[in-house]
Amino acid sequence: MDMNNVNIEEIVRQVLSGMTGNASAAPAAKPAGQIPKTARVAMLTALEHYDIKEFPIPPLGDDDLLVKVEGCGICGTDAHEFKRDPFSLIPVALGHEGTGEIVAMGKNVKVDSAGKPVKVGDKIVTCMIFKDDPDITMFDLNKKNVGGADVYGLLPDDDIHLNGWFSDYIFIRGGAFGSTFFNVSDLDLDSRILIEPCAVLIHAVERAKTTGILKFNSRVVVQGCGPIGLICIAILRTMGIENICAVDGNAQRLAFAKKMGADVSVNFADYQGIEALAGGVKDAFGGYLADFGFQCTGNPKAHANIYKFIRNGGGLCELGFFINGGDATINPHFDLCSKEINLVGSWVYTLRDYVTTFDFLKRAKGIGLPMSELISDRYPLEEINEAHQKNLAMTGLKIAIINK
Ligand SMILES: NC(=O)c1ccc[n+]([C@@H]2O[C@H](COP(=O)([O-])OP(=O)(O)OC[C@H]3O[C@@H](n4cnc5c(N)ncnc54)[C@H](O)[C@@H]3O)[C@@H](O)[C@H]2O)c1
Ligand SMILES: [Zn+2]
Repeated sequence: MDMNNVNIEEIVRQVLSGMTGNASAAPAAKPAGQIPKTARVAMLTALEHYDIKEFPIPPLGDDDLLVKVEGCGICGTDAHEFKRDPFSLIPVALGHEGTGEIVAMGKNVKVDSAGKPVKVGDKIVTCMIFKDDPDITMFDLNKKNVGGADVYGLLPDDDIHLNGWFSDYIFIRGGAFGSTFFNVSDLDLDSRILIEPCAVLIHAVERAKTTGILKFNSRVVVQGCGPIGLICIAILRTMGIENICAVDGNAQRLAFAKKMGADVSVNFADYQGIEALAGGVKDAFGGYLADFGFQCTGNPKAHANIYKFIRNGGGLCELGFFINGGDATINPHFDLCSKEINLVGSWVYTLRDYVTTFDFLKRAKGIGLPMSELISDRYPLEEINEAHQKNLAMTGLKIAIINK
C-alpha cells in the first residue's frame, strides 16, 4: 500500500475518537506470553549518571499498550540531557528513538495512528504525544509543525515510570494522553531504530522542496556528517539527486558520506579561511557553487559559512540547531539580499513524515545504501553510562542500546 496516499488525518481522528480510556481504568489486557511484574528502566538520576531502577508494570487500561523494548538509539538531545539537563527533567527515563514488540494491549486498541491493524507480537515505534493542542497538530499537519508536542523518552517522571525507551518495557498510554504509534513490523530492527532521526531529515527535505529549487540535477552541499547529515545524503540519493558534496572536518565521517551517496567531499581542515573553503566546494562541483545547501551541524560558524557555498538564487535549509547553539554572524547584504537566497528552517517532523520515512527506509535498502552501518556501536541496557560516554566522545556514529 502506498501509505503516502492514505488520508492520515481522517484515520487518526477515528483512532483518537476510539481511544477514551486511561491508564488507571480496569485492566482489560490481552496478555501474551510471560509478562513480568516489574521492569528495568534506565533513569538519568544525576548529570552523566544513569541508575538502572526496577518498577512495577502498571495495570493496563482498555486503550493502553505494553511494549517489550528491543532497542533504542541515543540522540544528540539525549547527550545534551545527559551532560547539562537543559530541560530540567532529572530524574527522567530517556530514550525516544526506540522500538519494540507489543506484549499486551487494551481491548479498544485495534489500529495504529495510520489506521493499520495491530496485534500482540507486532513491532511498533511511537511518534509525538499531542496532548496540548491536538486539533492543530494532528489534523493540520501541513500547516503547522509539532513545536510543543511531547515524546516518550522526554516526559517528566510520574507514577507510571515506564516512560522512556531505555528500558525493558515501555507503557504507551491511550485516551486523552495523546500518544501516537505506528506498526512497523515490516521493517528490520536497525531500520526501526533509525526511524526517528530519519523522520527529521524527511521533514527537512520536504521543507527544502517548498523553495522549488531542489531538482534531480541540483548540486547539493551537505554540511556536517554526523548521523543527521549522513541520513540527509541518503535521502537525497534515494530521490535521485547525485551531485552531492559532503563537508566536515572528520575524514572518517567524510568517507562514510561517500558510502551513503555523496560523490565528492571537502574536509574543512584542508583550507585556511572561508574564501578558500568556498573555493574548495566550488572546485568539488567542477567550478560551480551549490544550488542548495543543508546545514547539519550545531555550530554557528558553520551556519555563517554555508551561505558562501551557495550560488545566487540558490536555497538553504538550516536544521542543525535543535538546541540553542548561540548566535551566528552573517552579512545580510552579501549572504542573503544580493544573493537572493531562499532560506527555510526545519524542526522535527509531523506524523505524515513518519509514514514517508518507512517508505524511505525500504527504498534506501533497495538501492543498497548501508543504513545499518550508521549504527556503529551497540550496548546492553546495563552499560548505558558507557554508551553515553562513547556518544559524547564522537568516535562512533549512531550509538544504540540493544536489549537481549
Ligand atoms: N532540526 C531538528 O529537528 C533536529 C533534530 C535532531 C538533531 N538536530 C541537530 O542536528 C545537528 C546534527 O546532529 P548530529 O547527530 O549529526 O550531530 P553530530 O555532532 O554527530 O554531527 C555534527 C557534525 O558536524 C561537523 N561539524 C562541526 N562543525 C563543522 C563545521 N564548521 N563545518 C563542517 N562540519 C562541521 C562535526 O565534525 C560533526 O561530524 C545537531 O546540532 C542536532 O542538535 C536537529
Ligand atoms: Zn532524536
